[in-house]
Amino acid sequence: MKPDEIRSKYLDFFKEREHRVVDSSPVVPQGDPTLLFTNAGMNQFKDVLLGNEKRDYVRAASVQKCIRAGGKHNDLDEVGRDGRHLTFFEMLGNWSFGEYYKRESIQWAWQFMTQQLELPIERVYVTCYKDDDEAYDIWVNEIGFPRERIARQGDVENGNEENFWSMGPTGPCGPCTEIHFDLRPEEGPFTFAEGAYDEDRIVEFWNLVFMESNRLEDGSFEPLPLQSVDTGMGLDRMAMIKAGTQNVFHTELFTPILARTAELLGLPDITQNLQGFWKHQQFTDFAVIADHIRSVLFSLCDGAKFSNEGRGSVVRSILRRAVRHGRRLGFEGPFLHEVAQAVITHYGEIYPELVAVGQQSCELIRLEEERFFRTIDRGNALFERAAEAAKQEQRTQLGGEEVFQLHATYGFPPDLTAVMAEEYGLSIDMDAYNTHWVEHQNISKGRDSLGDVFTAGDWVTINEGHTNVFTGYTQTQDTARLSRWRKSGEDTYELLFSRTPFYAESGGQVGDTGSASSVDGSLVFEVVDTQKSPIGIVHRAKLKQGSLTGSASAGDFSLQVDATTRAQIMSNHTATHLLHAALRELISDTIFQSGSLVSAQKLRFDFSWGQPLTSEQLRQLEDRVNAQVRAGIPVAIHEDVAREHAVDELGAMAIFGEKYGETVRVVQIERDSVELCGGTHVQNTRDITLFRITSEASVAAGIRRIEAVTQEAAYHSFQQDRELLGSVARHIKANPHNVLDRASSLVEERTELERKVRQLSQKLATLRAGELVEEAIEIDGVKVIAQKINVDSRDQLLAYADKLREKMSEGVVLLGAELDGKAALICAVSESLFKKRKIKAGDLINAVAVHVDGRGGGRPTLAQAGGTNPAGIQEAVDSFEQVVRDALS
Ligand code: SER
Repeated sequence: MKPDEIRSKYLDFFKEREHRVVDSSPVVPQGDPTLLFTNAGMNQFKDVLLGNEKRDYVRAASVQKCIRAGGKHNDLDEVGRDGRHLTFFEMLGNWSFGEYYKRESIQWAWQFMTQQLELPIERVYVTCYKDDDEAYDIWVNEIGFPRERIARQGDVENGNEENFWSMGPTGPCGPCTEIHFDLRPEEGPFTFAEGAYDEDRIVEFWNLVFMESNRLEDGSFEPLPLQSVDTGMGLDRMAMIKAGTQNVFHTELFTPILARTAELLGLPDITQNLQGFWKHQQFTDFAVIADHIRSVLFSLCDGAKFSNEGRGSVVRSILRRAVRHGRRLGFEGPFLHEVAQAVITHYGEIYPELVAVGQQSCELIRLEEERFFRTIDRGNALFERAAEAAKQEQRTQLGGEEVFQLHATYGFPPDLTAVMAEEYGLSIDMDAYNTHWVEHQNISKGRDSLGDVFTAGDWVTINEGHTNVFTGYTQTQDTARLSRWRKSGEDTYELLFSRTPFYAESGGQVGDTGSASSVDGSLVFEVVDTQKSPIGIVHRAKLKQGSLTGSASAGDFSLQVDATTRAQIMSNHTATHLLHAALRELISDTIFQSGSLVSAQKLRFDFSWGQPLTSEQLRQLEDRVNAQVRAGIPVAIHEDVAREHAVDELGAMAIFGEKYGETVRVVQIERDSVELCGGTHVQNTRDITLFRITSEASVAAGIRRIEAVTQEAAYHSFQQDRELLGSVARHIKANPHNVLDRASSLVEERTELERKVRQLSQKLATLRAGELVEEAIEIDGVKVIAQKINVDSRDQLLAYADKLREKMSEGVVLLGAELDGKAALICAVSESLFKKRKIKAGDLINAVAVHVDGRGGGRPTLAQAGGTNPAGIQEAVDSFEQVVRDALS
């Protein structure tokens, strides 16, 4: 049974039982900041299960894309170690919202697996929650399931969560009954003894959860208003069971992806010998790549981005793990974006987002891979030095300092270093690594982002002190000492100072630019970008004057942020908050930010929303924001607010994917907008002067993007539009006031002209047809016309053929023409000729179509052919006479 069939049987089965079939929600959850990725089919129904939302149906079924790579349900480390764990998988599920309960759900599960999936019952096992007598009773007494194949387990009060399912640390939960399949019956009958059992043999494939409680922050449970059912069956596991294998990677859900990877490595076509390929000694590397690329691609297509924080950092680390396994297979440069093509081909029909934005996502993957390959190459030298030194000193471990440096400087996550160290027979000192990491986290005040991957030679340290003191909320100029520096290119440097007014890129706001000059005038740098890193705020700079060498103090530096650019950035940032609030106020309070970019030129805001905004909605948004701009509302900043107070009391919005510490910074524009934000803002909305939306479009399934400009850029955009309107008007000989009337009448005129052209072509066809008839030759009393002609369309060709047939009482016509670089042939046979002598247009046209590399067909009296070789049209026409002679004789 193919995976496609399992999907459709499942949905049909529950549809017949009055379930509403709903689409998968994106793997990037919308509007649930408690969740990193969609980890179960029930996520999109969380509020229904909690009783906070009502739908117009009480039964539902779906096939849901899931990712379990973070949070409560995280299978990242298991992938490739066994044959059943995946980070990305599809979950078949059915739900009852306060309607049917244990009896129906167990009975239907039983019917589906025995009647539809036709599983051998003797290989099925069941587990129930220890206290769930009702479920146990249904299995044993109503289904007649053998007692010896049922286990009762779990004890949630005492921390044993077997057979108790929760979505996350908080949220809906309840006891469950799990259904398992014996993959290795040849090992003899299995009975649930006390304690653990071999889950590789007795593999769970379906979980029926009876949702009864809501788990609260403090770990206590409150009963839910409704008793609901939430079931989930792993499609990949079921495909494995139905394929009679013991490994999900041996199913056709993976074969195309594995085959593509092998092909890229230049291996022979593995599909010819799959059994042999499964035994490839590096099969695990292939499997991890195949799993991880599904997660990465589906996340990107649903709107995730690679980043150093939150979800984006998980997507990045999944990609890096895949690259690491790819390197072990011998890839020396980007390959995953090519493997991803196999995922798009395989899943594109089921998940249209892969077709819609798959290629953009592959490009992101390629760039990310390139970057990481470069990083690995650079870090390798450091790694090898450290590993050699450890060997020389007869140590068995790489020191924590080295592991930390590899991470901080080259972006090597410790697990990557661990794998590389293994090849030297070394382990890594994780405890010492953690100590270093914590120290640096403290230095960077709880901001624990890894920072960009800084790629340059080793640092020259002048001063060990703090390099992350940001003074730029209140000033754009400061004086500081140079603490560290390193060369990053011909005349480019990375500089860290004891304090800085330069804002380092974060929260969507770009890094500041400006200048850094030594006070004595000997050194001048142009700062082109500012980024966070674990060791402080890094200024990327071009040396304009002087030379920087050695570790001697270069004295005080005057740091000057480009204040004009910064003012534009601040205006765009505050406008972003106003836009976000306006979207939630005017369009829907379910809208959430999914990404943003705030630069000097413009702001870009991505948000969860499924359909295009109308021009009326866009106008309302602009009206709302501009009204707030004109009202001159002060922008209040609250520093060091307890996070709980900010969220609960001030109603601050947290942006999902951003990490916040225990104390946060709140940006408040009266009651209109309250957000947790570390960015720089104008003091009063009046400073924005003018806000204008310049575009609205889709970026991914369920994600829209608005771009807008403020201040002078907004004003200029009006001027540009006026100029554009003026030049359009000149082009169509109108003025800006009557340009619309003029454009409409031009369109009307054009329609009228097209009509006239059609009429004329008809007339011309009639005339030309008369001429062609004159030129006809006669074979055995039959008039024969064969001509290559010039026409603009197939319709015209048809019109000619019709006219010619009308004019000949008994005759055949072949016309050929080149249309859009291809050959078009048409053949007409008069009615009487077909009746009397059984001459068929289809036969005639096929006899000549070979010359244009084509084939044709149609009715006996009218046939058409197309061909890819227009150069052969004349030959086709020339050969027609002989073809007719043969047919008539
Ligand atoms: N939510 C449950 C699970 O994920 C059943 O779908 O296992």
